Amino acid sequence: MKALVLSGGSGTRLRPITHTSAKQLLPVANKPVLFYGLEAIAAAGVTDVGIVVGDTAPAITAAVGDGSAFGIRTTYIRQQAPLGLAHAVLVAREFLGDEDFVMYLGDNFIVGGITGLVEAFSVARPDAQIMLTRVSNPGSFGIAELDPLGRVRGLEEKPRQPKSDLALVGVYMFTSAVHEAVAALQPSWRGELEITEAIQWLLDNGRTVNSTIVTGYWKDTGNVADMLEVNRLVLETSEPRLDGVVEPDCEIIGRVTVERGAHVASSRIVGPAIIGPGAKVTGSYIGPFTAIAEDCAIDDSEIEYSIVLRGASIRGVRRIEASLIGHDAEVTPAPRVPRAHRLILGDHSKVQIGS
Ligand code: TTP
Repeated sequence: MKALVLSGGSGTRLRPITHTSAKQLLPVANKPVLFYGLEAIAAAGVTDVGIVVGDTAPAITAAVGDGSAFGIRTTYIRQQAPLGLAHAVLVAREFLGDEDFVMYLGDNFIVGGITGLVEAFSVARPDAQIMLTRVSNPGSFGIAELDPLGRVRGLEEKPRQPKSDLALVGVYMFTSAVHEAVAALQPSWRGELEITEAIQWLLDNGRTVNSTIVTGYWKDTGNVADMLEVNRLVLETSEPRLDGVVEPDCEIIGRVTVERGAHVASSRIVGPAIIGPGAKVTGSYIGPFTAIAEDCAIDDSEIEYSIVLRGASIRGVRRIEASLIGHDAEVTPAPRVPRAHRLILGDHSKVQIGS
């Protein structure tokens, strides 16, 4: 079995960060989200991994390399434009050959890995196997309709009137039957070759499509709210570690990781939180569910439930929350604007003015 990891795309929902960075490399608890996926693939025993890349190919290639750090062997497949998930299968035709493969969306996060899913597929070997999870907003996802026995009856991409609340999770398994389906597709209304249409084609042509409902946690980290949520989840299970310098005038509470080379002084850190190597935190409050990446500077500030990317600095600002702050960004207070209150106050008035 091979793996096909999709790490191209345009990442419009994460602009402006994705103007300069690959969204699959955005960190969750200071580690690129893509790395969690590659680790899950390696843990499932799949070592031959094709990575579909687009405009951000140089950054992805630099981060993952030949894959040996993950125990896998990588082949990079260039997709000239993000023309859809099924288009990615099309351009990977030569790499995939006629082998079974697991397709993994590089910005997706699945708790509990994919080992069980890969094993179940290898035993039953349907033409396709999809993972489903219940969602509260089915109109925003690819949705599957099941028959009373739980077999897949049909799929719809972001339906206006969803027939179920079962959304496709970003992991799919295929036999080589999918290549015929993909080759038969026409671009959808949004100009993409849709993987849901390829799976529908398999159904329409009498092929077997199994589904598994995953109960574990799954998130597409394609937008800021979901990134912060996944970051929270991973930090919650992190092992606390103080490898950097923490001065005695600090208060460290709960699951806190301070990486080697980081320096924390006159600050209060309430975990779960992580401070990356080379970061400096002084006179600040770092609250729960916050990941400060390497070489950041946080000075005289308060921040919680946020992700701060490499090299950013925050000085004299309180309080920041639910934020994603880009590489080398600088956050400082606005200069004080002179303000005046003009009052005509009645006799004996009592006024409280916030100043
Ligand atoms: P999406 O999040 O569906 O698409 P996108 O990256 O274009 O993002 P947005 O909707 O914010 O514009 O893509 C899921 C994953 O698949 C993601 O890791 C990017 C990757 N992908 C490709 O590699 N090639 C493609 O043609 C598309 C559409 C996505």
